Amino acid sequence: MALRWENGSLVLLDQTKLPEEEVYLVCRDHRQVAAAIRRLAVRGAPAIGVAAAFGVVLGAQEILTRGGDLGAELPAVFQELRSTRPTAVNLFWALDRMARVWQDQSGKEPTAAVSALEAEASRLYREDAESNRRLGEFGAALFADGMNILTICNAGALATVAYGTALAVVRMAVAQGKKIAVTACETRPLLQGARLTTWELIREEIPVTLITDSMAGFVMQRGMIQAVITGADRVAANGDVVNKIGTYTLAVLAREHGLPFYVAAPFSTVDLTMAEGSLIPIEERAEDEVACWRGRRLAPAGVQVLNPAFDLTPARFVTALITDRGIVRNGEWEKLQQLA
Ligand code: MRU
Repeated sequence: MALRWENGSLVLLDQTKLPEEEVYLVCRDHRQVAAAIRRLAVRGAPAIGVAAAFGVVLGAQEILTRGGDLGAELPAVFQELRSTRPTAVNLFWALDRMARVWQDQSGKEPTAAVSALEAEASRLYREDAESNRRLGEFGAALFADGMNILTICNAGALATVAYGTALAVVRMAVAQGKKIAVTACETRPLLQGARLTTWELIREEIPVTLITDSMAGFVMQRGMIQAVITGADRVAANGDVVNKIGTYTLAVLAREHGLPFYVAAPFSTVDLTMAEGSLIPIEERAEDEVACWRGRRLAPAGVQVLNPAFDLTPARFVTALITDRGIVRNGEWEKLQQLA
């Protein structure tokens, strides 16, 4: 389990240590949560949102315990959590929900306000598991027995409260008795595919084959793949998708090879305020993530490095978006407004 709320603390499975070590971080204040999100100890759009919501609870608890002024100090807690990562909209969506609860509590007794915040964070937690289960059930109908499905990054249980998004679809298809195999792109530079997706699937005995990102064309050309499925960090109103760097390449390759390209995301990832994907901010991460591996330099000193964490897949490449409110097919993007 990527995260859980236990005795007034947020317990996170430190994903930077997987698969070698299963280390749990106990976050007792919002700064620890913010730091964990920044360094990807907790990651994946839905998990970031839920973790940040509990970060607000921890911030409020701390202010209350030392007799501080919630009204004066809580905005800085929200601000610190909002500034952790810019791309996944679930972060802002969850913090906005927490902010609305806080506004409703203004003028009320501080202990009651903190309890209301804790109740909302717990609701977000339960809703995430439920949404992913539902989208998994909708999506499973798209996968036939015997398919080998290509994915990138980790859009699994580790990226959410439970089930995952792309991997929820795989899990539900397997639960229906279909034989499904997964091909996992390693996902340079931080290897969420090699380290996390394979770890999750091996534990559930779902067949998984690891490839480097540059092998995707090879496996498609050889007829080894029947569909591609990815998660999303933000979906725009016109169906454009922003997801882990390398997703766009897979979508273009899938088109060339006549393969369906599916994106699985709950509505908490859909941002209707973005008319199109080019408006979505793309996180740029530290150069060392590309130029070094676990503290060891791979590239010569002084080389220029680019490290965008996400890319934009235009809606025209997306066969269908699998959501917790149903499947939206290419060309029906206005349905996103109706379902929202
Ligand atoms: O940088 P990460 O590991 O947080 O990126 C995660 C992804 O790109 C996932 O595909 C996305 O958040 C969906 S997770 C269900």
